[in-house]
Amino acid sequence: MKATRDGVKALFPRRAGGGQAMKWMTVAICFTLFLFWSGRHVFISEPRNASPAVNGLNMSAQAQSNMSQYGQGLLPCNKYGFAQIQNLTGRWADSPKADFNGFYTMLTDCPSWVREYDCKNPSLTGGPVIDPGRIHQEYRQIFQADQCQLRNFDARDFSQKMSQRKLIMIGDSIMRLHFYSVACFMKSEITSGFATDWSKSSIRWQGNYTSDWAERGTVPLTKQFVGDFVTSTGFQVHLRDMGTYNGTLLEQVLSDFYPLQSEDVLLINWGAWYPRWNWGQNEVAWRAWQQSMDHLFPNVLAKLPLQVIWKQYTAAHYGGPTGAEVGFEGRLPGGPWRYGCDAALVGEFWYDDYIKELLQGPKCGSACARIKVLPVFEMSRQRPNAHHGSLGRGDVDGRADCRHWCNAVTDWWTILLYNMLT
Ligand SMILES: *[C@@H]1O[C@H](CO)[C@@H](O)[C@H](O)[C@H]1NC(C)=O
Ligand SMILES: *[C@@H]1O[C@H](CO)[C@@H](O)[C@H](O)[C@H]1NC(C)=O
Ligand SMILES: *[C@@H]1O[C@H](CO)[C@@H](O)[C@H](O)[C@H]1NC(C)=O
Ligand SMILES: *[C@@H]1O[C@H](CO)[C@@H](O)[C@H](O)[C@H]1NC(C)=O
Ligand SMILES: *[C@@H]1O[C@H](CO)[C@@H](O)[C@H](O)[C@H]1NC(C)=O
Repeated sequence: MKATRDGVKALFPRRAGGGQAMKWMTVAICFTLFLFWSGRHVFISEPRNASPAVNGLNMSAQAQSNMSQYGQGLLPCNKYGFAQIQNLTGRWADSPKADFNGFYTMLTDCPSWVREYDCKNPSLTGGPVIDPGRIHQEYRQIFQADQCQLRNFDARDFSQKMSQRKLIMIGDSIMRLHFYSVACFMKSEITSGFATDWSKSSIRWQGNYTSDWAERGTVPLTKQFVGDFVTSTGFQVHLRDMGTYNGTLLEQVLSDFYPLQSEDVLLINWGAWYPRWNWGQNEVAWRAWQQSMDHLFPNVLAKLPLQVIWKQYTAAHYGGPTGAEVGFEGRLPGGPWRYGCDAALVGEFWYDDYIKELLQGPKCGSACARIKVLPVFEMSRQRPNAHHGSLGRGDVDGRADCRHWCNAVTDWWTILLYNMLT
């Protein structure tokens, strides 16, 4: 059973109803007319069933998910139309290729500095042995968007289109997962790179920072991970992870990338860390996060000269009546242990809804009009079984990690990002 705003409904929502389809069609028709008018036949000249990407990551026939089978008749998702979709709906379905088992194997196909719990091979990264059928069930799934046809990831194309541009990824450890996914997809184009703990790196801003936590005063900010890589076209990707928001640190971190150009991209998100130590006091964390966002959006994001993309919050499948029962940490005295991940009864929509309101309402509104949203919420919410904890991390000791995601899901965030930027 899954919680929704309106009550409980099935795990996989049905495809969008006529109203949404009509809305998208209107947008699509306007864009097509615009493109004819402007003489840029981008949609029209693009082959609808382009052959699968063979550049970059070696997507052999075996690994190719053939996304083009779905959504025939929909326009391709690209930077013209896709950027307007804030609520990307769709469904996960088995790939038509029965042997599709994800896009890569982390330990063999990724850069050497990508080191993360691998849900596909849990026993190689400290987890238990899991039935391969169970793993395949998660990794065979592909996401089929309702509003447009997702294009296959193409590493060489991405590297070329992002030539001499920067992609700066800032957030917490969920953003690290995303950075790793981008790095794995881009491996064949990468000329140098690294990733490590912030404290072990030579990245500046090693000092102690705090975050403002409303009635609790200030709490120490945890600096987590950093990483950088560059491709042969001069496309730079940077990761800076910190658990919570501090405006001073954010501005200092960004200053390392000056001058920022309008073509550069900041992908940013905070959320998951806030309830981390607060399973019994979720409200405090929730209010602290709102306070952070109220500052971040109008005072920082609205004013930056580069393209800002807010990566939607990914529903926390912590479960429990407060939606914050983490169980992962032995350091939570009295905290409930968890052996798997569920959809939470409450809280899954709060963070995402709050940002929508912030972007549209009086708090930021027109000042924030330039900010795009990477619509990963709906797609991720539907996969409570694709967390590290669902595939072994911590589940034997009751501390299942239901916060971090298997790359079975994070790779689709990367595919969305590619579709949005190219
Ligand atoms: C993909 O891998 C296959 C087998 O491993 C190899 O024969 C082929 O040349 C590779 N293709 C590319 C584009 O790297
Ligand atoms: C993908 O599906 C389409 C439509 O069924 C088919 O024509 C095409 O050959 C498939 N591509 C691959 C790589 O399997
Ligand atoms: C997004 O789509 C889902 C699924 O159709 C729907 O339940 C939800 O209300 C939508 N949210 C918004 C803000 O439109
Ligand atoms: C940061 O705090 C730690 C311990 O809380 C302390 O050892 C360290 O000296 C502090 N660093 C700075 C730059 O103040
Ligand atoms: C950010 O950290 C600095 C250094 O600790 C601190 O002075 C400042 O108050 C913090 N900002 C917020 C909003 O918490």
